Amino acid sequence: TWTTGNVIEEQVAAIREQVGTKRAICGLSGGVDSAVAAALVQKAIGSQLTCVYVDHGLMRKDETEQVEKDFVAATGVSLKVVDAQERFLTALAGVSDPEEKRKIIGREFIRVFEQAQAEIVAEAPGDHPVEFLVQGTLYPDVVESGGGTGTANIKSHHNVGGLPEDLEFKLIEPLRKLFKDEVRMVGQELGLPEEIVQRQPFPGPGLGIRIVGEVTKERLDLLREADAIAREELTAAGLDREIWQCPVVLLADVRSVGVQGDGRTYGHPIVLRPVSSEDAMTADWTRMPYDVLAKISTRITNEVADVNRVVLDVTSKPPGTIEWE
Ligand code: XMP
Repeated sequence: TWTTGNVIEEQVAAIREQVGTKRAICGLSGGVDSAVAAALVQKAIGSQLTCVYVDHGLMRKDETEQVEKDFVAATGVSLKVVDAQERFLTALAGVSDPEEKRKIIGREFIRVFEQAQAEIVAEAPGDHPVEFLVQGTLYPDVVESGGGTGTANIKSHHNVGGLPEDLEFKLIEPLRKLFKDEVRMVGQELGLPEEIVQRQPFPGPGLGIRIVGEVTKERLDLLREADAIAREELTAAGLDREIWQCPVVLLADVRSVGVQGDGRTYGHPIVLRPVSSEDAMTADWTRMPYDVLAKISTRITNEVADVNRVVLDVTSKPPGTIEWE
């Protein structure tokens, strides 16, 4: 029978056997999946694990600080933070195609992990080699990246279909058979705090796949502001549990005419995509209160320069996916 206790026990034993005396690194994204995967592997191999947080510049407001504080406080894991903003922005320059973006982001993650691996080895050269990379891949990620049996490739999740072919790490993916709600239960059992376990999903490629069009520093800053406003208002309205997640998307290549103050504007639309879901495989758009939508819209158009329109995505999944890219 399926119990979180059994899953933990089984995975801990399997990880110990797989890793032996060698070392592993784990990419943390700030999300639930990587946090639970890291906690599970830490339980299995303790200090043989180093976590790596890649600050790729595609994060939402305050996300980096949250990982640095909350997660380390909860687990005591050793954490390496890598500032890779330049690297990711350079690699993404001029790219608009969603799958191409995903592949680039997946590849750059691995390049940063390789660099971190070399640094960890250099810091303690006498220790065993760092051979393993832990990832918080879930069952739906595998299926939708075309890794399941007979499924179409919907999109390359950054840690599945987005991996480079010359990958030298051996992967540890202890959550590969689990759905999100099960992962949350495992995290709870492992003693992770509510703020981590109940966090809404956020994709590894971050805001990079929420800008329809080329990713630039200016666009990221703009989207980060709009996203922070939406999140603040949704939380204030007490909707965080009812809504599975609410991607905020910038249509960077679209402009529309507006009037603000006493002048004509020609700005970008921001899309709100609140969805309700059980496992992200299917979803429905959340019928959320109009007054909350109105507040978000007013604030975004008033406070975010270059945005003069806020639109609501009323598509379920299928036919739309949750993210726009
Ligand atoms: P879609 O857009 O495929 O999203 O309906 C399903 C769920 O997966 C998240 N998502 C990702 N998570 N890496 C991740 O870690 C990715 O590359 C990725 N792409 C989508 C999305 O936010 C939703 O929860």
